[in-house]
Amino acid sequence: MAVSSLWMLLAAAIMQLPLLVLTAPLAARQAPAGVPSYVIRYAPLVYLFSGDPYRPTNLTVHLQNTQPEINYTAVSGYPFPLTLSNLDQVPAGAFLTLTTDITTTPTYLLGSTPDSSGRISSAIPATIIVAPKANATVDVFYLYFYSYNWGGIVNILNRNFGNHVGDWEHTMVRFVDEVPTTAWYSQHASGQASTWAALQKSDQGRPYAYSANGSHATYATAGTHDHTIPDLDLDIDVLLTDDCDAGVLWDPTLSAYYYTYDVATNSFGTYDNATPTAYLNFGGKWGDQHYPDSDPRQENLLRLDLVYKYSDGPTGPKDQGLARVNVCPDSEEECEIRDKLT
Ligand SMILES: *[C@@H]1O[C@H](CO)[C@@H](O)[C@H](O)[C@H]1NC(C)=O
Ligand SMILES: *[C@@H]1O[C@H](CO)[C@@H](O)[C@H](O)[C@H]1NC(C)=O
Ligand SMILES: *[C@@H]1O[C@H](CO)[C@@H](O)[C@H](O)[C@H]1NC(C)=O
Ligand SMILES: *[C@@H]1O[C@H](CO)[C@@H](O)[C@H](O)[C@H]1NC(C)=O
Repeated sequence: MAVSSLWMLLAAAIMQLPLLVLTAPLAARQAPAGVPSYVIRYAPLVYLFSGDPYRPTNLTVHLQNTQPEINYTAVSGYPFPLTLSNLDQVPAGAFLTLTTDITTTPTYLLGSTPDSSGRISSAIPATIIVAPKANATVDVFYLYFYSYNWGGIVNILNRNFGNHVGDWEHTMVRFVDEVPTTAWYSQHASGQASTWAALQKSDQGRPYAYSANGSHATYATAGTHDHTIPDLDLDIDVLLTDDCDAGVLWDPTLSAYYYTYDVATNSFGTYDNATPTAYLNFGGKWGDQHYPDSDPRQENLLRLDLVYKYSDGPTGPKDQGLARVNVCPDSEEECEIRDKLT
């Protein structure tokens, strides 16, 4: 153990004391007063894949098991322990890097499984952001956090690629005059938009979001969804599949932090003073930097420098196109809103 690690442990021990005394447990957090009722009433219910070992993860637990690194070297002078209230002090170029070797599959990467009522009671893995737009439009972003993304199996090679530490996914519901009209389901670098009417819904009228095995891409229907590897322009068909089923039902509204987002100032507000915001302003990545080819854990698909066994962790909620004009993120070349799901 390096001297700096000893020092950090000591600092943590000192800092834990007042934290434990001052902070009441916030797990299993329901919406504070002031959150518009339609935000809860029409919130997606997430079906986690039955066989997916990587469940939604407590944001705080993720931070406790990572350290900021730039170029594979620990950044000095960052706050310790990292919390949701100080993460904005970490430089934007940093990668929140696991302090345990990924190949040992540390148990905290497995996250938390909801109970039979759909509640994750010991963790807060969801962030819900209410973003008012022009024309009586409100976009509500339901963001889901998982500590690990298992990338799937590349068909032609029958090998696993595209894993990364840290995984933010989202469903966005667009409301006009408090009525849900359309929705966006994030899938890898893109996603799918549809009308509200087209979505499968629970008896209470809440839409389902199926979280794919490992990648946690969100789909409006169960089944196997093929997707090609983005940016890979080969003559051969290089495919990955996303598998979805009605495995374990998760109601993210029961364990979430709630925010407002102001498009004009690109800033976040809360509904109470017990909700941390600093982490939303973190400009770095939520997982390890992709390991160099010299790292024995790494594999570089067909040596094309495009797809790796381990890729970079993702950026956080503020990079999910919160200010978008259409229901699709502004980065989409076109925005097809499906009125039928296939
Ligand atoms: C990371 O290392 C590379 C190669 O040594 C160097 O060019 C780059 O400037 C470094 N980046 C940072 C942010 O230090
Ligand atoms: C999850 O995070 C919350 C809020 O930070 C904390 O109160 C709770 O103890 C954490 N749960 C676990 C299992 O660590
Ligand atoms: C609001 O409506 C006006 C008029 O239909 C339109 O030009 C504008 O793009 C809309 N703004 C947004 C953010 O949807
Ligand atoms: C689901 O993901 C796990 C890896 O986390 C993998 O071993 C398993 O084969 C996958 N299941 C399906 C049906 O693809």
